[in-house]
Amino acid sequence: MTDLADRVRDIVADHAALEGPLLPILHAVQAEWGHVPEAAVPVIAEALNLSRAEVYGVVTFYHDFRERPAGQHVLKLCRAEACQAQGGAGIAKLAQARLGIGWHETTPDGRVTLEPVYCLGLCACGPSAMVGDQVIGRMDREKLETLIEGLRA
Ligand code: FES
Repeated sequence: MTDLADRVRDIVADHAALEGPLLPILHAVQAEWGHVPEAAVPVIAEALNLSRAEVYGVVTFYHDFRERPAGQHVLKLCRAEACQAQGGAGIAKLAQARLGIGWHETTPDGRVTLEPVYCLGLCACGPSAMVGDQVIGRMDREKLETLIEGLRA
């Protein structure tokens, strides 16, 4: 019995009384390890009497769950309507080109993970972005270039 399996069983036990415990369990597992480790899937499946495929299906369906640890910085770009109407698509394209990665991917040096997000509550100041806890409005090409440069430094 591994430490990881023991800890996952504890997490499952903590949520066992909930109706529909799978999502809260997966969130708790991700909060602990920063992603949902592959080895946690069979432990959760067994504890909830589900198949591994069912648990894995939920992990891969919801983009909030990571199968691998995120990079050192997570850059989120708003893909919701108001930001798209203010040039969000061009900003996203530029970010992907500069980082050389797509959505949900991490640069090979492990510095930056790029994630889409659907509204950061800053719609009037779009396009919006977020790095860590910091929300950034009125993103433009120049600001993005500077931001990415800083994240990769
Ligand atoms: Fe982008 Fe609301 S639509 S912050």
